[in-house]
Amino acid sequence: MIPVAKTENNDVLSLPERMPRHIAIIMDGNGRWAKSHGLPRTEGHRQGTENLRRILKSCVEFGVEILTIYAFSTENWNRPPLEVRMLMRILEMVIDRELKELNENGVQIRHIGEMQGIAPVLQKKIQYACDYTKNNTRLILNVAFNYGGRDEIVHAVRHIIQDGIPADQVTEELISSYLYTGDLPDPDLIIRTSGELRVSNFLIWQGAYSEYYATSAYWPDFDKEELRKALVEYGNRKRRFGKTDEQLEDE
Ligand code: IPE
Ligand code: IPE
Ligand code: MG
Repeated sequence: MIPVAKTENNDVLSLPERMPRHIAIIMDGNGRWAKSHGLPRTEGHRQGTENLRRILKSCVEFGVEILTIYAFSTENWNRPPLEVRMLMRILEMVIDRELKELNENGVQIRHIGEMQGIAPVLQKKIQYACDYTKNNTRLILNVAFNYGGRDEIVHAVRHIIQDGIPADQVTEELISSYLYTGDLPDPDLIIRTSGELRVSNFLIWQGAYSEYYATSAYWPDFDKEELRKALVEYGNRKRRFGKTDEQLEDE
């Protein structure tokens, strides 16, 4: 077996060209975190929300421009109704409590996912939060809520057809522009917490060439130090985009 050299060069943190512009996180493990502390799942979700505050701050400190978080998947409707209601309620509370501060900190909130299916009151709140922060430029926070990668592609194809785009004009760029992430660059780094090694329908198109990073830490425990470790590993990776090492050295 060829040994994989694991460079732990921390210097990459101060090299902007080595840092991701766009990070996406599958915030997983709230339930197991709660169980391991003898607490109800709801408490895990609450702690997860608290952690998001901290990670947002850390992302700004590390110079990340775009953060996409997976908060509720199209598959999460399959959870017990009480938990689904709780997850909806949590988003509502986060908007109510945090919007002012997020705005003051220059965070631009965007929603990615299907509005249909979300209660009208919450839909209005999400829309309000997006409108309220739309001119902010410090950090773009994409909240993937009622989001599914396959659903997103179906949504894009429907719109392409509705717009009467001829077949020969359908390109990769066109499809990208019809996704919920539209004008944004693809994620450079996708992090999944809680040790699971799957994509769970998250950014399946945009993640085609993203670097993946998995950690066993449950989401409520994924702190600034954990993020730093992910960034150091990312910064030391080689993104080849199909090319050879020799080609990259010549660039
Ligand atoms: C992630 O934590 C939050 C959501 C999916 C909404 P989980 O609730 O999936 O936690 P585990 O995977 O059961 O530990
Ligand atoms: C993915 O986590 C969705 C979110 C983090 C919102 P899940 O916990 O729902 O994923 P699976 O079901 O284990 O794949
Ligand atoms: Mg989970």
